[in-house]
Amino acid sequence: MHFFKAAILAGTVAMIAAGSALAADIKIGFVVKQPEEPWFQDEWKFAEVAAKEKGFQLVKIGAEDGEKVQSAIDNLGAQGAQGFIICTPDVKLGPGIVAKSAANNLKLMTVDDRLVGADGKPLEAVPHMGISATKIGEAVGQAIVDEVKKRGWDPKTVGAIRVSYDQLPTAVDRVEGAISVLEKNGFPKANIFDAPQAKTDTEAALNAATTVLNKHADIKNWVAFGLNDEAALGAVRATESVGIAPENVVAVGIGGAESAINEFKKPKPTGFVGTVIISPKRHGYETAINMYEWVANNKEPEKLILTAGQLALRSDYAEVRKQLGIE
Ligand code: GLA
Repeated sequence: MHFFKAAILAGTVAMIAAGSALAADIKIGFVVKQPEEPWFQDEWKFAEVAAKEKGFQLVKIGAEDGEKVQSAIDNLGAQGAQGFIICTPDVKLGPGIVAKSAANNLKLMTVDDRLVGADGKPLEAVPHMGISATKIGEAVGQAIVDEVKKRGWDPKTVGAIRVSYDQLPTAVDRVEGAISVLEKNGFPKANIFDAPQAKTDTEAALNAATTVLNKHADIKNWVAFGLNDEAALGAVRATESVGIAPENVVAVGIGGAESAINEFKKPKPTGFVGTVIISPKRHGYETAINMYEWVANNKEPEKLILTAGQLALRSDYAEVRKQLGIE
């Protein structure tokens, strides 16, 4: 009897030891296209929470171009990682990323920006978590429409800046969602101006929007939107640089991270009136947990998860953040 008890106990101890040794051996990469952007910093932060909770090692890598993506994947393979999550700088790298991951024996998941194949269609076999881009874009459009009404502007006279990054499908869905609502509410198509940005950051958006503003110096009131807070903020900075007052500008972003919060905290309101808050916790923590479960327990993640957003205005953002359970 004693012998059996001891044997069972020893077996249990060995299993626990094996289990924890396994977790400590697990290495998961988290590769992002723009490591300096607060959204991605937050994703990393929440992925770290998952790593601590499960006891695996998280390897964070910034990869701003295709070459860096290639070496990041090789690097993860050489380090003995078992899988990684990536927000790629270019979704067209899709087939290359899939091939390189397989060559390095790495499980692959994507976050934010979904890989596409040579035909431009999403690589549906790669598990992905992104935002509900069209819906969130519509929320941006509605927020703009509501603010324009509040200010008593005639939509027919308003200029709209579509800060665009059309090589990225989620970016197209976001701005087109916004435009559909603007058009339904009387904004003429002819007054919606495309401002293509070279990169998805504030500076690129500022440059793109400045060109539009200079071309249409006759327009008094402006609205602006893009794929993220940085895009909307870039457009706002552009209006400021050409001397348009905040009273004449309504921009709404997507994100709700540090970039938006710092703007809301400015003592004088700017043209950046709101943002649709999305969840870096879901995108960072949940993807990391899902990858861990895949590696450790062979539990395959869902192929597609789309997360929601919640509008927050300068006036109520602190309250909305509280409701959403963000610090
Ligand atoms: C893209 C954008 C980021 C962020 C994420 C959210 O990657 O470039 O700023 O909006 O989508 O999924």
